[in-house]
Amino acid sequence: MIIAPSLLAADFGRIRTEVSRAQRSGADWLHLDIMDGHFVPNISFGPAMVKTVHSLTRLFLDVHLMCERPEILFEPFLRAGAGQLTIHVELGEAMVSQLLWKIRSLGLKAGLAINPPTAMERVRPHLRQIDLLLVMTVNPGYGGQEFIEECLPKIQQADTWRRELNLDYRLEVDGGINYQTAVECARAGADTFVAGTFLFQHRQMKTAVQKLRRLTAQARPTAPSRQSVAAS
Ligand code: DX5
Ligand code: ZN
Repeated sequence: MIIAPSLLAADFGRIRTEVSRAQRSGADWLHLDIMDGHFVPNISFGPAMVKTVHSLTRLFLDVHLMCERPEILFEPFLRAGAGQLTIHVELGEAMVSQLLWKIRSLGLKAGLAINPPTAMERVRPHLRQIDLLLVMTVNPGYGGQEFIEECLPKIQQADTWRRELNLDYRLEVDGGINYQTAVECARAGADTFVAGTFLFQHRQMKTAVQKLRRLTAQARPTAPSRQSVAAS
């Protein structure tokens, strides 16, 4: 299981301390939300901030691009130290295919995100092109929102496709993640958990990360047995 604190929930006035707190917590990745004020009704930060964060930590930087024209930022984020760039499927099939190719050609991991109202069929044509599928569990734009339960079947679908097509993309969830919702997502097949508000509000982030890791590992779905496959 991969645990990725989302920096959006950090205290930006104490960024050095916050990044070091995330690193010392034993988290695997740091999730960085880039909002452009067009694709989502909010603006966060850009490559300069990612560069600063990169200078403060060895953590893998998982950059989530909630942007209408993400391609203008690929190279700046590469130079800033991003390890993975995730774009949104809502940009349209032709565009998405081209952009995923471009991300990989830069030597970065390629992620694809899907918003709660978007049908899963939209991601299907791209599954062989990605390292990570991000199923959004809130409408993107803000931290601290409530988890949308209706997204759980989408996680199951993504996990089923992964098995059927023999692919190995990571299955990430983002938005309203806490102990309870993370367990629900893990049961549905998620293996990568972004949590902002929930983790940064803990004084002892390490304890929360350890518990999240333990609970999600225990909730991992078991592969269907031969018997149940035969019976179905
Ligand atoms: C939402 C962002 C999330 C956000 C999650 O638009 O993509 O990564 O930081 O925040 P919490 O965990 O507070 O819901
Ligand atoms: Zn995000």
